[in-house]
Amino acid sequence: MITNDIAQAVTALASGKLCAIPTETVYGLAANALDESAVARVFAAKERPADHPLIVHVASASDVSEWITELPQWAVDLTNAVWPGPLTIVGPRTALASNSVTGNQDTVAVRVPSHPIAQELLRQLEAQGVKGVVAPSANRFGHVSPTSAAHVSADLGEYLNVHGDLILDGGDCQVGVESTIVLATGSQPVILRPGAVTAADIKRITGVEVSEETINAPRVSGALDSHYSPTAQVILITGSETEFENNAGFLALAQTPTPTGLTRLATPATIEDFAHELYSSLRAGDDLKLKTIYVVPPTGDGLAQAINDRLNRAAF
Ligand code: TXA
Ligand code: MG
Repeated sequence: MITNDIAQAVTALASGKLCAIPTETVYGLAANALDESAVARVFAAKERPADHPLIVHVASASDVSEWITELPQWAVDLTNAVWPGPLTIVGPRTALASNSVTGNQDTVAVRVPSHPIAQELLRQLEAQGVKGVVAPSANRFGHVSPTSAAHVSADLGEYLNVHGDLILDGGDCQVGVESTIVLATGSQPVILRPGAVTAADIKRITGVEVSEETINAPRVSGALDSHYSPTAQVILITGSETEFENNAGFLALAQTPTPTGLTRLATPATIEDFAHELYSSLRAGDDLKLKTIYVVPPTGDGLAQAINDRLNRAAF
């Protein structure tokens, strides 16, 4: 069931139900992080492999010490500057973080979302003794992440209805791509997944060089080669091509004109708009039963990198 009632979502989560929640990045499928059977149902609902660890969401940076034993000074500076916001930190876990949450790893991922509804929900949950909720993106495993309550419903609605779980509707997600994940176990930040908080932001805030190391480990499911995929085949192009398949869609910045015969899925004016509309465009292509979606990826650093990362995996 879709609801607008935060109190109803709090009650559901505190009593072991699942609830899809809006965040500024994408919708997450939330469960009480300390309720083993609720956490197990998150994996079941998503059909997600059990060794893929989850992100714990808390109300404020001061809650992080419940979950992470210690962070280097650069990570403390980073979280103080960015949270609440689209950043996830991976650090050594406390005893609160169970094996099912961490996928048996000795680290745990934690994030403080900025969406006002997520904030209010987490504060009310903490007042009831719920110290955090796990919340992977609320899509079927491998599918495009949801940026609206309707997207969640399309992927997981049947499972959630059958089990009496909820979807908390908070409108469209502002950022549109998942949080930046930063490994904070060493002297330098390592970006495990690019997002709206960029390497340049991290360098500027912490004064520390971001590691060149790319840990493309399977422990980050978003780092699997094929992920974020719609049913339509995604083909990346430069925009100068003239031959296209029939029944195909097109996505590019507004400045790139629509090639003859293609169905335009969005006209984002900026990189931010591109990220915001990326997943809804891919889903719209599937709704239109398009066979192919041609995408001209945006160029440049920062958020463009996050968009390219997702597009490369969608096209794989
Ligand atoms: O923006 C987001 O981060 C969204 C919203 C809902 O908060 N959540 C999200 O969750 O994208 P999910 O589960 O779809 O992606 C979380 C990623 C996974 O790829 C997981 O493998 C990685 O975080 N992760 C979690 N714990 C980790 C750990 N201890 N070490 C490395 N990667 C970890
Ligand atoms: Mg995901």
